[in-house]
Amino acid sequence: MLETPHPTPSAPELDCFALARQMSGLHFIGGRYMPAIGGKNFAVVNPATGEQVASAAEGDAADVDAAVRDAARAQKEWAKMPARKRGALVHQCAAVIREHQEELARLIALETGKALRTESRVEAGTVADILEFFGGLGSELKGESVPFAPNVLSVTVREPLGVVGAIIPWNVPMLLMALKVAPALVAGNTVVVKSAEEAPLAVLRICELMNRVLPAGAFNMVSGMGPECGAPLVEHPLVRKVTFTGSVETGKIVAKAASQKLIPVTLELGGKSPMIVFQDCDFAKTVAGALTSMRFTRQGQSCTAASRIYVERPIFDAFVAEMKKAVDLMVMGDPLDEKTDIGTIISEGQFEKVQGFIDEGKKTAGATAHECSAMPKDSALKKGLFIRPVIFTGLDGSSRLVREEIFGPVTVIQPFDDAEAVLAEANDSEYGLAASLWTNNLKVGLDLAHRLEAGLVQINQNLVVQANLSYGGVKSSGLGKEASLEAMLEHFTHKKTIMVNMA
Ligand code: NAI
Ligand code: MG
Repeated sequence: MLETPHPTPSAPELDCFALARQMSGLHFIGGRYMPAIGGKNFAVVNPATGEQVASAAEGDAADVDAAVRDAARAQKEWAKMPARKRGALVHQCAAVIREHQEELARLIALETGKALRTESRVEAGTVADILEFFGGLGSELKGESVPFAPNVLSVTVREPLGVVGAIIPWNVPMLLMALKVAPALVAGNTVVVKSAEEAPLAVLRICELMNRVLPAGAFNMVSGMGPECGAPLVEHPLVRKVTFTGSVETGKIVAKAASQKLIPVTLELGGKSPMIVFQDCDFAKTVAGALTSMRFTRQGQSCTAASRIYVERPIFDAFVAEMKKAVDLMVMGDPLDEKTDIGTIISEGQFEKVQGFIDEGKKTAGATAHECSAMPKDSALKKGLFIRPVIFTGLDGSSRLVREEIFGPVTVIQPFDDAEAVLAEANDSEYGLAASLWTNNLKVGLDLAHRLEAGLVQINQNLVVQANLSYGGVKSSGLGKEASLEAMLEHFTHKKTIMVNMA
């Protein structure tokens, strides 16, 4: 249970600016808020205005060590607790998160620039949903009885791994953290999370809220830079498992460090997800589906964004025109304004990166950039990191915009003539996270679904990750699955065999 005093109010605080200030300069370790041991902080910036709204504790190896040691101490008792009781506590955490849903939504909108109505509230609600789902799975941590020999009782049991180190990104930090923390805790592990530089606040508040229910040390959080704070977490000798979501480049560094300790690692590393539209699709539903598939309300900052759209030639022109018309209706503006559909890019670095892709696309011979929506007019937002959604046509599979993850509101639509050719193009990618097919011919749809190289294929919908459905990529998109029962069993426990000779 949370120790007092602590600097934040216990009731929901809907003034996200005030809350951000109160949360400044702190990690959460061993059941309480702690400043960085080295006394360093870094700025948390509102990307809609460019203003600093808080500072975050800039942790290093010393902070990580303190957090991991507390987690290791807490783990012994936590693992002794009956699994259903652990689950019940995680379920109880969901209730606290629901009470604070609006507060968390405002806080994440402030630090990430994601629109409150279309994105931030949804994310906060999903966190509670994920905690409830895993909270109910305590009894599923069962083993088997193995028919080895008469008079020899041979059973397997599921045991926790110990301290889990979790490293998360900034795009949907609350949700992606919940996917790691909830199953790790229910399985009897304790956790240290390293938050993303760009979005340390809302996840820290969740850690505090969950610590009102959980025993001290079960769930800890440090903030800081990747090499200075993330790397020591992976390398810490008491960390027995690492789970990471982020870029391929960093994923490889994390996997390499984990391999030096021979500990298991789960990686979720982005994608270049194809959306394939056949002429027999339900046209209006598919155009609407393209908007959600591209995650335009999240400025396309999603690993499953449909950033390559293939449309069967007879409906190509109509599809591009209707999609542009639909995106034009989306309102870009202040993330905290209820009218806003699309907020800002997370940081200047990402802004430059996305802008670089757009400039390159515009310069490519034969390409057309269909720029959608309108820039916000509010002068308070003039320094905001807004990028108008862009639909490119006239690019082909050789373009970097078709091959690389842009992580911005940019998609490329290409025409196709036959199913085999489009399947080959869709699979011609380093990535293999998600894909969607839009057709009323389920025979063709199912055939392609089986042959697409992706961890998740959806026909006539393109939802984001859902509790209970296995989620994770193939090829460079990652290693291992999240979000499901199997994810908890395979990635947060090991199977021990126990034999009793009764002869
Ligand atoms: P990143 O992969 O560098 O950062 C993700 C997390 O890893 C952050 O918490 C960061 O501090 C940490 N990290 C960085 N270096 C580390 C190290 N050496 N050891 C341990 N942890 C380390 O991603 P970044 O730089 O924020 O974004 C770059 C690109 O990555 C984006 O443009 C996008 O394409 C992709 N990305 C994919 C995400 C996904 O959901 N799969 C999420 C975020 C970014
Ligand atoms: Mg990076």
